[in-house]
Amino acid sequence: MIVCVCMNPSYDRTMEVAGMHLGETNRVLSSQSVPGGKGINVSIALDILGQSSICIGLAGEKNRSQFDRMLKEMHLHGDFLSIPGEIRTNIKIIDRDQTRLVTELNEPGPEVDEKTLRHLTDLLLSYRSSISMLVLTGSLPPKAPADYYRQVIAKMQKHGIPCVLDASGEALKEGLKASPFLVKPNRSELEQLEGTQFCSPQEIAACAMKYVKSGVQMMAVSLGKEGALIAGADGVFQAKGVKVKTLTTVGAGDFMVAGLIDGYLRTHNSQEALKIGSAMAAMRITSLTPDREEAEARIKDIEVSPIDKFPKELSGAGE
Ligand SMILES: Nc1ncnc2c1ncn2[C@@H]1O[C@H](COP(=O)(O)OP(=O)(O)OP(=O)(O)O)[C@@H](O)[C@H]1O
Ligand SMILES: [Mg+2]
Repeated sequence: MIVCVCMNPSYDRTMEVAGMHLGETNRVLSSQSVPGGKGINVSIALDILGQSSICIGLAGEKNRSQFDRMLKEMHLHGDFLSIPGEIRTNIKIIDRDQTRLVTELNEPGPEVDEKTLRHLTDLLLSYRSSISMLVLTGSLPPKAPADYYRQVIAKMQKHGIPCVLDASGEALKEGLKASPFLVKPNRSELEQLEGTQFCSPQEIAACAMKYVKSGVQMMAVSLGKEGALIAGADGVFQAKGVKVKTLTTVGAGDFMVAGLIDGYLRTHNSQEALKIGSAMAAMRITSLTPDREEAEARIKDIEVSPIDKFPKELSGAGE
């Protein structure tokens, strides 16, 4: 079973307005609320792929009963520790007819303390005999130390559980020090980490391979509409971006993470992981109701090829 850690889940409330006017009363045309957060998105995508998963994390006690009910309705499994405070609400306002822009208002979520984090680590460890992979994704809640993901990765990997990290800023920087099995930064997260701007896929490939050489098993870098690449023991491969009609890019990275995991668990091959990851991302951005058949249909559009033109000394993981 795959565990998706959800440190700071949310109610994602999406509202459509005909035109968004600041400082005025705006009539809402439609609205819906669903449980959100990156870990939950990954779990939804894994479910589409037929991989069983559970969301484990922290949930504000004041408004969690509705959250539990919604997870159940979505056929998602959850094991959340109740903490003081409220599950946050993230509001997305879609200006349907005028600018077509999406305005987001994201709450920070409840603060956590050391004791709570210790309990969460213990809860994760209590599942260790049945975990095939552990996914740490999204930002840390207020007051959590930047190295919390690093601590969890170190503890879990000591028990032989491969960990996947999709984070940014300090959480990514610290997490990398524990050499997670798979890391999925996007281009700007990697640029921020490195303090540089990449000029070519070859430069990104070389950077990803640097992390593979230092102990990370695989690093996949997503490049938005340019596609993605993956570095692993057998070299670096890229999947070019597919030209699709984009409905939303929200959650593309999360669906990619789920596809990477599914592809790897089934084939132990990084190229296959990249293929399924890219197909899942493409499906997410083109469909509001993605399903398994569509994911399978998307796979044929994805072309994966080696990136071979980067500095020779970085061309192999074991050198
Ligand atoms: N405009 C687009 N056209 C085609 N494919 C896209 C587009 N945007 C994203 N993708 C696909 O989705 C993948 C992940 O997108 P992106 O690099 O934006 O991830 P991310 O920034 O981590 O996303 P998230 O907001 O979910 O964290 C890309 O590698 C690509 O395969
Ligand atoms: Mg992302």
